[in-house]
Amino acid sequence: FGPVADGGSTTPTSHRRRLTKISVIGAGNVGMAIAQTILTRDMADEIALVDALPDKLRGEMLDLQHAAAFLPRVRLVSDTDMSVTRGSDLAIVTAGARQIPGETRLNLLQRNVALFRKIVPPLAEHSPEALLLIVSNPVDVLTYVAWKLSGFPASRVIGSGTNLDSSRFRFLLAEHLQVNAQDVQAYMVGEHGDSSVAIWSSMSVAGMPVLKSLRESHERFDEEALEGIRRAVVDSAYEVISLKGYTSWAIGYSVASLAASLLRDQHRIHPVSVLASGFHGIPHDHQVFLSLPARLGRAGVLGVAEMELTEEEARRLRRSAKTLWDNCHLLDL
Ligand code: 2OP
Repeated sequence: FGPVADGGSTTPTSHRRRLTKISVIGAGNVGMAIAQTILTRDMADEIALVDALPDKLRGEMLDLQHAAAFLPRVRLVSDTDMSVTRGSDLAIVTAGARQIPGETRLNLLQRNVALFRKIVPPLAEHSPEALLLIVSNPVDVLTYVAWKLSGFPASRVIGSGTNLDSSRFRFLLAEHLQVNAQDVQAYMVGEHGDSSVAIWSSMSVAGMPVLKSLRESHERFDEEALEGIRRAVVDSAYEVISLKGYTSWAIGYSVASLAASLLRDQHRIHPVSVLASGFHGIPHDHQVFLSLPARLGRAGVLGVAEMELTEEEARRLRRSAKTLWDNCHLLDL
């Protein structure tokens, strides 16, 4: 192709669309599932991948680049050096040790805090205006760590939290009720982990509250059955890890949906890990991050929903907050 005759005029800079850059730190199974899902959803002009293993990183980048004929045009870059992330709009951190079968997310803490000390400060320096989306586990504590180490306002540091647990919850409820999971409104909040809290009181299907009618029509919906479903949600990750060694596809879709809500300024409500001090009786001086339904847009967390909880749900949430704060406040950051 030859150049286009422009009659002497050039496109004014103001007419050029600002390009969107997303960085994914950690090119393991989770990072690559996220990058792949983001690519198919056409929401970035540039994707930068960072990993400590250069061959694996280059292999992953080339493998995605080779899909160029089937995807919207995206510039894909990768490097072991964090400078490749410069100018990111959104930085997604997935790097870190992952659970071995049977291990809890909180067990990973010390190893991953040491890694975050190396990752977060340069990331923040190269992209001082970015949104930080933390995915590595234990995600709630590491979101607190990233907030402290980045110096960013809390509205720009978000943990993927129970966005995934809530999808698992909706999947299990939908199977039970034989409806589409997208019509089930139901939240898991609190820790992304063993102490997560299922909010039964506000569960609805197509806008209709269903708990009361479920209880009237199914004896199976007693307290024990409800706790059984919550437990099944919590056990989902352990089951997948014991079967295939890690989880990847669902977290990929979960994080890509968060990225879309943030970068496209969707104002959608997602249960994600946010600074929760002062909510539902969590002490103001406990700077704990845990999942609450939050409104997400281009500026990050635009607001946190004031959910109506039963006393029991609020008590469970405070217990989840305490578990997390016990892990956070001893860290020397
Ligand atoms: C998950 O829940 C392990 O946190 C990861 O899939």
